[in-house]
Amino acid sequence: MGGCEVDSQDAYQPNLELGKSRFQSYCAACHKLDGTGQENGPPPLAGSNWVAGPETRIIKIVLHGLRGSIEVKGKTYNLEMLSFGPVLSDEEIAATLSYVRSHLGNTSPPISPDTVKQVRQAIQDHSGYWTVEELLKSP
Ligand code: HEC
Repeated sequence: MGGCEVDSQDAYQPNLELGKSRFQSYCAACHKLDGTGQENGPPPLAGSNWVAGPETRIIKIVLHGLRGSIEVKGKTYNLEMLSFGPVLSDEEIAATLSYVRSHLGNTSPPISPDTVKQVRQAIQDHSGYWTVEELLKSP
């Protein structure tokens, strides 16, 4: 990860069609089509400080899931999100997150499949859902 991120972002043209389709199939049931989330959770992706970055953290969330307390847009949630690492490829996760980061009112740069691949390899020995405490320990 580290220094490679900027290079890969410059070169990478995200597949937003794929991202939109995967978002609708795998994320929208909980986070809603417009990303606004639901009354008592799941939290919003629209305008989320987590979606804006760092990119490594949202890749980790999608790969291995998340549990416990998390603050999103000033509101605290304490739920569970399942892991998508086993069902979605690096390309699909990159496209989905690139779509989420450039739609739903968000304006963050895309994430490349290569970055997802590197994170997947780096965390392969981690088991179970992430907690926010763990995620905040590294970028
Ligand atoms: C079964 C419901 C469910 C699905 C499907 C789901 N999520 Fe989540 N997601 C959650 C919940 C619940 C949380 C909060 C977990 C907690 O409280 O610890 C969350 C948290 C998040 C967060 C961090 C908080 C935020 O709102 O920014 C991101 C980013 C995220 N999800 C992205 C995704 C993406 C991308 C997908 C599709 C690949 C997805 N989620 C699919 C339920 C879901």
